Amino acid sequence: MSFAVEALRLDLGGCAVVRDVSFALAPGERVVLLGVNGCGKTTLLKALDGLLPAAAGSISYAGMPLDAARLEEPAFRRRFRGEVGLLFQNVDAMLFNPTVADEIAFGPRQLGLPGVEARVARWAAALGVAPLLERPPFELSGGEKKRVALAALLAADPAVLLLDEPTAALDPASSARLVDLLAGLPGLTVLTATHNLTVAEELGSRALLLAPGRPGLLHDGPTGALAADERLLVESGLAHRHRHLHGGAEHAHFHVHGGD
Ligand SMILES: Nc1ncnc2c1ncn2[C@@H]1O[C@H](COP(=O)(O)OP(=O)(O)OP(=O)(O)O)[C@@H](O)[C@H]1O
Ligand SMILES: [Mg+2]
Repeated sequence: MSFAVEALRLDLGGCAVVRDVSFALAPGERVVLLGVNGCGKTTLLKALDGLLPAAAGSISYAGMPLDAARLEEPAFRRRFRGEVGLLFQNVDAMLFNPTVADEIAFGPRQLGLPGVEARVARWAAALGVAPLLERPPFELSGGEKKRVALAALLAADPAVLLLDEPTAALDPASSARLVDLLAGLPGLTVLTATHNLTVAEELGSRALLLAPGRPGLLHDGPTGALAADERLLVESGLAHRHRHLHGGAEHAHFHVHGGD
């Protein structure tokens, strides 16, 4: 297994944000993480990236417990940092180099990977940021920053990508290109937190559903089955019975926001 999560509890500010969550990610699997604002998606992804310790239960990576002691071992830390990449929801927290080219080169250089310039060119082209290579990242638009941060992660040849709202700042064409790009990287394990239900099924055939204040996962199964389960969508808060006017007549229907 890439990751195995057992009866996990994660606390923030003294409160349990994630409770009794268990699941495993097989190598190469594509899974989406769904749930309303505040249900703990970002918190869970940070814990999987080794940035937040388990308050109870456990996380293991490649069969080894992912805890503070393990992360302090230089050999494990180096392997883990080389194999697992997290795209932050707040992408500004990831970008700190003077130019986009340096940003993309940073990970491969840190890891001592060969062919850094070729990696920068390949991933800048793949994410459509080649024209921005000499620009300072802080000057870029939100969607441009997301694409640079993803190029920087991919340039380090990860085995696992944890993506926190990767399409949130992207225009529709860029979102579709990202879906295609990920589809073209077989073997990569990807867990994607998203509100974008229109691309959820393409980002992962399996969906995990969290709900705030509720222990466990409300759903761990096919994304298509969840998208079609109105009762579960309403129960989790993702769908809303929406009333509005159509040609002067009031009309109500279940509304699942398709975009971000
Ligand atoms: N440092 C903190 N101290 C206390 N509570 C926090 C802290 N950071 C986050 N929280 C709370 O933890 C809960 C989960 O937050 P999290 O960011 O994981 O949610 P999310 O599912 O990613 O939401 P969104 O869809 O808005 O990104 C929220 O209720 C949030 O207010
Ligand atoms: Mg979040």
